[in-house]
Amino acid sequence: MSQTRAPVSIVTLISGRGSNMRSIVESVAAQRIRGQVAAVISNCPQAQGLNYARGQGIATDVVDHTLYPDRTAFEKDLTVAIDRHRPGLIVLAGFMRILTPAFVHRYLGRMLNIHPSLLPRYPGLSTHQRVLDAGDDTHGVSVHFVTPELDGGPVIAQCRIPVLKNDTAETLADRVLSEEHRLYPEVVGWFCEGRLQFGAGGIRFDDLPLSAPIQRSYQSTDPA
Ligand code: GRF
Repeated sequence: MSQTRAPVSIVTLISGRGSNMRSIVESVAAQRIRGQVAAVISNCPQAQGLNYARGQGIATDVVDHTLYPDRTAFEKDLTVAIDRHRPGLIVLAGFMRILTPAFVHRYLGRMLNIHPSLLPRYPGLSTHQRVLDAGDDTHGVSVHFVTPELDGGPVIAQCRIPVLKNDTAETLADRVLSEEHRLYPEVVGWFCEGRLQFGAGGIRFDDLPLSAPIQRSYQSTDPA
C-alpha cells in the first residue's frame, strides 16, 4: 500500500441498520483501508446506523427526504451535506433512495454501491426471495460503480454464495450479509489505494481494463 497518497475522505450514505458502513469503519480503524470515514449521512432520522457512527465520533447528518417537495430539492441539500466533507469517495450502504442522473453524474467514478445479488441478475428489492422463487442454486453479492441506471453500474467485484436446500430468505440474507461485510471494505480499500478507476473506457484495476468482475471466494463456515 502506497504511503504517499493522502487518506481518502469517505462519506457514507445509509438509510437503516448500517452494518456495511460499520464494516468499513472497522476496516479503516484496522488500517485495512487508507481512508477516513468523514461523515455518515442518512435520509432517515431513525436510521440505526447513525447511533453507531455517533458512538465512533464520526460526524453524522440527516437530510430527511420526507421534508422535500421533490427529489431534486432533496438532492440539492444532500449534495451540500456531502460536499462539506470534500469526499474522494461516496459509499452507498443500504441507501434506499433512487438517485437522479444529475446527482449521479456529480459523483461519477467516485460513488460505490453494494447490492445483494449477482448483478445484472435481480436489481431492485427482495433479491433473496426472488432467488429462492426462481430455484437458483447460486446467489451472491456485487459491488459496483454507481451510474444513473438503478443497480446497473459496472460491477467491480462479486462473491458467489450457494443456496442451501433449506434456505429461507432470512438465512440466505444472513449468509449474503456476512460476505457483504468482507467484500465491501476490500473494494473500498482498493479504491482508496488508487487501484480502481472508472471512466469513459470502463473500469481499470491496477492500470488494466477490468473485463469481468473480480470474483472473491465464499468464506462462510456454514455447511454447503
Ligand atoms: C444490504 O444487504 C445491502 O446490500 C443493501 O441493503 C442492505 C443494507 O444493510 N443495499 P446495512 O444497512 O448495511 O446493514
